[in-house]
Amino acid sequence: MAERISVFGTGYLGATHAAGMAELGHEVIGVDIDPSKIERLARGEAPFFEPGLPELLSKHVESGRLRFTTDAATAAAFADVHFIAAGTPQVENGYGADMSHVDSVVETLAPMLDRPAVILGKSTVPVGTAQRLAARVRELAPAGDQVQLGWNPEFLREGLAVEDTLRPDRLVLGVDPHDPGRVEEVARRVYAQALERGTPFVVTDLATSELVKVSANAFLATKVSFINAIAEVCEATGADVKDLADAIGYDERIGRKFLGAGLGFGGGCLPKDIRAFMARAGELGVDQALTFLREVDTVNLRRRQHVVNLAAAQVGGRLNGARIAVLGAAFKPDSDDVRDSPALDVAGTLHLKGAQVRVHDPQAMDSAARVWPTLDFVPTPDDAMRDADLVIVATEWTVFRELDPDHVGRLVAHKRIIDARNCLPERAWIDAGWAYRGMGRHSA
Ligand code: UGA
Repeated sequence: MAERISVFGTGYLGATHAAGMAELGHEVIGVDIDPSKIERLARGEAPFFEPGLPELLSKHVESGRLRFTTDAATAAAFADVHFIAAGTPQVENGYGADMSHVDSVVETLAPMLDRPAVILGKSTVPVGTAQRLAARVRELAPAGDQVQLGWNPEFLREGLAVEDTLRPDRLVLGVDPHDPGRVEEVARRVYAQALERGTPFVVTDLATSELVKVSANAFLATKVSFINAIAEVCEATGADVKDLADAIGYDERIGRKFLGAGLGFGGGCLPKDIRAFMARAGELGVDQALTFLREVDTVNLRRRQHVVNLAAAQVGGRLNGARIAVLGAAFKPDSDDVRDSPALDVAGTLHLKGAQVRVHDPQAMDSAARVWPTLDFVPTPDDAMRDADLVIVATEWTVFRELDPDHVGRLVAHKRIIDARNCLPERAWIDAGWAYRGMGRHSA
């Protein structure tokens, strides 16, 4: 059955969720305070790079099942189910999450709700937020306790966001056990297709649902930092972290995924989520429980410094004036997101140390140039590498994985490459006469 749905916040999460809900057959309206974003979305264009999203947007803007507006009242009048998908970035002066966007959705929407409705929060929030917001909604909504709030965290990965939205590996719903209302019933209707396919559906209390999300991201971050810490030991001993990850990954209890040693994690989620989780644990008086996440963060940031050090060593100790090609600016491939991007961080640091850095990224150059306007962004990988003293592969885009070492060898001044994502076929590069450096590899 088609539900009338609104999605507040049309960033990476909200725009994809809105389009995904329309694809599932619902009538959807996306809301954002940014008129330029809404104009583009209303034309069926994605304001950021996400494979498969433009097709879905244009399909449903055309079909009429998907609309966009800056007017919250239109959405409040139209929808019976309201999703909150506003961002929760790191605060500027600390580790905590900036809740102002999520709070302002509730402050705007709730006073307009004069008939029964369900609000489902999708944003990643500090534990305790949902309960606070539920009380606020009851206070503000003219329909009072006819408006119920649940938490329905999102697990989508950038680059795979459409697939993750349409075919999630699990659904999680937090409801207030003292006031469950219609939240579960409505969520079951919204996600009827996934539930019919047998998608696991964990219904729990509000606090657990909030913690599920941050725990999942904290676990993933820990896994990446674990293997990067082992990479450091490999580097000190001449061992090879890739063989090691393969070997331990065969143990089903460990698993090979997220054991990719390299430049570490970045993006709009993992880094800020572990910091916000630590901040919240501190407020709750259980900071010791999460002290290890500080180390996870430190190991992760050390990878960036390690690549900068390796680059300096490769060019003979002096970065000043060295011509360095940095391939990749996005925090991971198939994304134009440069938030807390390890690749862009390395490029920027080398630039500040006086290197002549040229950067190419297949999708993220516009977003990267907004953060680092003084970096030299060039239109092709060849332009970046021509006459370079050193090439660094910093984001594992397929075009970089598939570079031809012979062709590139004819472009550069010196055949030196740092494979900061361990994504290249190293044998082919070494055979083509390159000084190849991986991360935590024999050759490191
Ligand atoms: C992450 C989670 O994977 C999603 O489940 C979650 O929904 C999302 O955050 C969120 O909270 O919204 P995402 O930030 O898109 O998704 O990126 P990931 O695929 O998790 O990658 C994060 C970072 O870890 C990237 O910089 C990636 O390069 C790095 N990484 C990943 C490694 O360095 N090694 C690995 O083996 C895997």
